[in-house]
Amino acid sequence: MNLAIVIMAAGKGTRMQSKRPKVLHTLAGLPLLGHVMQACAALQAAHTIVITGHGADEVQAYVRARDPQVRCVRQMPQQGTGHAVQQAVPTLPDDGVTLILNGDVPLIHSATAAALVDACKGQYLALLTLELADATGYGRIVRGADGQIQGIVEHRDASTEQRRIREVYTGVMVAPTQWLKQAVMGLHTRNAQGEYYLTDVVARAVADGLTVVSAQAPDEIEVLGVNSPAQLADLERRCQAHRARDLMDAGVRLRDPARLDVRGHLSCGPDVEIDINCIFEGRVQLGEGVRIGAHCVIRDAIIEDGAIIHPYTHIDGQGDPVQVGPRALVGPYARLRSGAHLGAEVHIGNFVEVKNSRLDEGAKANHLAYLGDSTVGKRVNFGAGGITANYDGAHKHRTVIEDDAHVGSNCVLVAPVTVGAGATIGAGSTIGTDAPAGQLTLARAKQVSLPAWTRPNKSTPKT
Ligand code: UD1
Ligand code: CA
Repeated sequence: MNLAIVIMAAGKGTRMQSKRPKVLHTLAGLPLLGHVMQACAALQAAHTIVITGHGADEVQAYVRARDPQVRCVRQMPQQGTGHAVQQAVPTLPDDGVTLILNGDVPLIHSATAAALVDACKGQYLALLTLELADATGYGRIVRGADGQIQGIVEHRDASTEQRRIREVYTGVMVAPTQWLKQAVMGLHTRNAQGEYYLTDVVARAVADGLTVVSAQAPDEIEVLGVNSPAQLADLERRCQAHRARDLMDAGVRLRDPARLDVRGHLSCGPDVEIDINCIFEGRVQLGEGVRIGAHCVIRDAIIEDGAIIHPYTHIDGQGDPVQVGPRALVGPYARLRSGAHLGAEVHIGNFVEVKNSRLDEGAKANHLAYLGDSTVGKRVNFGAGGITANYDGAHKHRTVIEDDAHVGSNCVLVAPVTVGAGATIGAGSTIGTDAPAGQLTLARAKQVSLPAWTRPNKSTPKT
């Protein structure tokens, strides 16, 4: 069947009190509209249309980048949800059914939307509804004595009695496209907000003799709308609670599911343990037996079996995912940036920063160091305070440290430079030319002692 989808995303989102269009505010690391588009992608509709208005350029740029197949149609000015769908009418086909979604109801499941499309059977008006304990702000489903739906009344237009109705319209409906086009063009603005209400098509369907059916959303989280910062925060917590539950169901041991944030995709092997207050962003993969200490922020990383990330470590592999090899130890207080690729059993200790560098098996940088644009061989020991000076003010250069080299404390390796295999660099050296393999290289002022020197005191004449 010819399925079209209209996502309404033109509203101002006044209650967000933000310059950013409401649908671009993020939930679990993804814009609200991104969540809705993700659910839609699975339905493989022939046409998907996003109605833009408030912040249209920004919203359109987001839609284009996410899925160039999706069309944007502008609604200027924004005169209500019915007016929003009117803008899509010229773009909609003449047959099939149309699914309408709210851009600010992010956690709808594609299966729920697909079930509603089925319930429409190509000819009915199908509404997704739900009974809420607190229905404030939502449109209420008005049913007759026979239980049949008669219409939707918006909260602001509802009588005291109607406001007691718990069954709400979730903002999701499916209608035969041809009928919908005529119905929205016939809407009026005689209501509390002076807007074209899409929800008035329900009464029109009843009048037209079109059967109105409803399906219940399986979970409240799927239909909660975001209209204010408080609702956004509430939905974020609910969404995170779901994610934590799913991880625990898969065997992940979370010290406290209420103190976990997954703002992207986290996949875990068996026997993973995650301590409190960790944030995962982008795509993060944790291998078997990985342990993540408290207060870590980890984005775009692959952490292999048995690796341990100690507390307060920051990993950001955006652009070139960070790789942490099997049984590696990282942190506490370590920073791994994009292109940090650590081999098996590498140790990175406190206040060590690694960027665009490959460290081979067993290499160690345990304290206060910077490794940037470097290639570090097996079993290298990079001493406390060591720095690879990779930037000359215009270009980045590489430092190569071959297998088994030891770089003493507080050394500066001025790239491009190579430290040969098995070389030792004396502490405090500044190395600007290649250091040969197997030898001790020192580059620092010779130590002198002055036996005749006396420390000045108050009676020493001032010179
Ligand atoms: C709407 C429904 C209400 C339902 C609720 C569910 C109407 C009249 N009311 O109310 O019955 O319970 O959703 O969440 O439909 N939008 C436009 N153009 C506009 C106005 C809105 O594109 O001119 C978009 C908004 O960006 C938003 C969606 O439509 O994504 C819903 O608009 P909103 O103003 O939030 O409607 P609600 O008051 O929540
Ligand atoms: Ca809303």
